[in-house]
Amino acid sequence: MCGIVAYLGENNAYDVLIKGLKRLEYRGYDSAGIALIDKDLSIFKKQGKVNDLETTFSGKTPHGKVGIGHTRWATHGEPNDVNAHPHYSSDKNLAIIHNGIIENYDSIKKELQQKGHQFLSETDSEVFIHFIEDIQKNNKCSLDEAVRIALTKVVGAYAIVILSKDNPDQLIAARKGSPLVIGIGAENNEFFLASDATPIVEYTKNVVYLNDEEVAIIDKTTGINIKNIEAIEQSPYVHTLDMELEAIEKGGFDYFMLKEIFEQPRSVADCMRGRLISEKEHALLGGIRKHFNDLVEAKRIIIVACGTSWHAGLVAEYVIEEFTRTPVEVEYASEFRYRNPIINKGDVVLAISQSGETADTLAAIELAKNKGAIILGICNVVGSSIARASHEGAYTHAGPEIGVASTKAFTAQLTVLYILALMLAKEKNTITKNQFLELSRQMESIPDKIKQVLDLNDEIEKISTLYKDVRNFLYLGRGYNFPVALEGALKLKEISYIHAEGYPAAEMKHGPIALIDKEMPVVVIATRDSSYDKIISNIQEVKARQGKVIAVVTKGDALIPSMVDHVIEVPPTHEAIMPLVSSIPLQLLSYHIAIMRGCNVDQPRNLAKSVTVE
Ligand code: G6P
Repeated sequence: MCGIVAYLGENNAYDVLIKGLKRLEYRGYDSAGIALIDKDLSIFKKQGKVNDLETTFSGKTPHGKVGIGHTRWATHGEPNDVNAHPHYSSDKNLAIIHNGIIENYDSIKKELQQKGHQFLSETDSEVFIHFIEDIQKNNKCSLDEAVRIALTKVVGAYAIVILSKDNPDQLIAARKGSPLVIGIGAENNEFFLASDATPIVEYTKNVVYLNDEEVAIIDKTTGINIKNIEAIEQSPYVHTLDMELEAIEKGGFDYFMLKEIFEQPRSVADCMRGRLISEKEHALLGGIRKHFNDLVEAKRIIIVACGTSWHAGLVAEYVIEEFTRTPVEVEYASEFRYRNPIINKGDVVLAISQSGETADTLAAIELAKNKGAIILGICNVVGSSIARASHEGAYTHAGPEIGVASTKAFTAQLTVLYILALMLAKEKNTITKNQFLELSRQMESIPDKIKQVLDLNDEIEKISTLYKDVRNFLYLGRGYNFPVALEGALKLKEISYIHAEGYPAAEMKHGPIALIDKEMPVVVIATRDSSYDKIISNIQEVKARQGKVIAVVTKGDALIPSMVDHVIEVPPTHEAIMPLVSSIPLQLLSYHIAIMRGCNVDQPRNLAKSVTVE
C-alpha cells in the first residue's frame, strides 16, 4: 500500500523516480507525486496514475540530483491532488513521503494546530512532517535526531523518506512495519531507496534492508549511517539481490497478469527444484530445519493469511490433515489477531504471504510469537518483513509478481505447502512409500500439465465472450476444489468487477440456489475425484433451474459434457494436487472477461498488491 522511492546521486533524479514509481504502481495508484531539489525544494503531484503525473508536468520539472517519489493507496483523505504525497513542512524546507498509517495523528495534529500549524491536506503524513519540523525547531537538533524523537511518539506503521532543502546531499529514512530497501550504487555515492527492490535492481544489486524502528541517514559523502530508536548506531548489512530485470518487465505480454499466468509452468518447477525428487524419495524445504522437529511434534498447525494466500492455506488444511494427520486450523489473519486466540505450547503457525508485508498477517505473527508459538513463514518476496519476523520458513521462488491479482504466487504457495506436507508425512510415517512416490511423481508432472491448460487459452477466451456482460457469477467446488472455487470467484470479482461468489458445491442448496436462473453462469470445478458423483448431482441441481454451467472437467470425461453448457478439459492428476491444475483455467477466464470489459487487470480499482495497513 503506497509505494515510495527516493534517489540521491549525480544523475537526473526525476528519471529515476518516475521509472521507480511505475514499478511500484502495483502498491497503489490513487495519486502520484515527486519532490526535487534544484535550488528550491519543489513538489509536483497529481491525482491518478504516474502517467498522469508525467503528462501534467512534462518539461516543467528541474534537473535535481536528489528527490523523493510516492504512489498512493488512499487511507486518510480522498484521492486528490492535495492529499497526494509528497507533503511539505510548514516552512516548505522539508518534504516527506510516507507509506503506512499514523494512528495518533489526530491528537498530534490538534497540538500542532494550537501552535499555529496549518494543514493543507487531510493526511496523517502531512501531520508527521509538521511534527518532525516542530521537534527540530524546539530542540534545535539535527533532522535525523528530530525524526528519531518523533518516532518515539508516533503510534502506527511507517516507511518514510525526508528531503531537506538545507541539506541536498542527504536523505533521512525510517521504518516500522512498512518496508524500505536502500540500494547502494556502484560509485558508492549514489543511493536508491524504495518500498521493494524492483525500482533498484536495474542500478545495483547491493541493498540494505532497513529494520523496524531504525533511522537511516543517507549521505553522499559519508554513506549510510543507521541508528535505532534509542540512538544506538547499527551496522548496515549489505545483501545481494537475487532478481533479474527481465523478471519485472512485461516480456511481450499485454499485461503482467497474463505474463504471470503463463510463467506458471516455470515458476512451479523453480519452486520444486531440488526440494522434491521422487526417485530419491526426497522432500525437503531447506529453510525449515531447526524447527522441523517442532512441526513433526506439533499438536496443531495454525495457518494465518489473507486474500489469495488464505485460499492456499485452505488447500493446505485438507492436504496436511489428510497426509500427516496433524489438525490444522486456517484463520484470516485480521480475525485471528483481534480475538484472543488459544495458542498452546507446541502449536506451530504457518504464515502465508506473497508480499511478506501484509499488516494483518504480520500482527498475527507477533501475537502468536508472544504466546510462544513457532512461526514458519511462506513468502514470495525475499527479505520481506514476514520472512524476517518468522523463526524459519520457505520462499516460494515465483519471482516478482506485479499484477495485483495473485496467480503464479498462489500456485507457488501451493507447491511449497505440498512439499511441506510430504516431508512431514514422510517423517511422521503417516504416508506409505507408494503414496509418497505417487504424489511426488504427480507433482513433478504438474508444470507440463499447467502448460496443457495454458494451451486452452483461445478456447477459454471464446467462452469468456459469452459471459462478459453478466452481473453475477457463482463458483462451486468440493473437497480440494472448494478453495479453488473461492479463488476463482475472487479472481473474477477483483479484476472484472463482476460480483462472484465461491461456495462448497453442497452448500449451494442452503441459499445460493435461490439465485439460479437462466441468467446465472455457474463455474463448477468437477474433476474426477472422490466427490465426482456428488458434484454431478450439484450440476443437475443447477441445470434443473436453467443455470448456465461452465464445467472444469478431467480430460476424457464423457458424462459431464453431456449435461453442461461449456467444458474446459484439464489433464488428470492426483485429486490432492488438482488445485495446481484446476485453478489455471479460472485465472484465464477472469483475465479474458476483465479485458473484454475494458478493465485494467494489472491495476484494478481500489486494490493494492501489498496491504501494509490493517
Ligand atoms: C491483497 C492482494 C491479494 C493478496 C492479499 C494478501 O489483497 O491484492 O492478491 O492475496 O493482499 O497478500 P499477501 O501478500 O499477504 O499474500
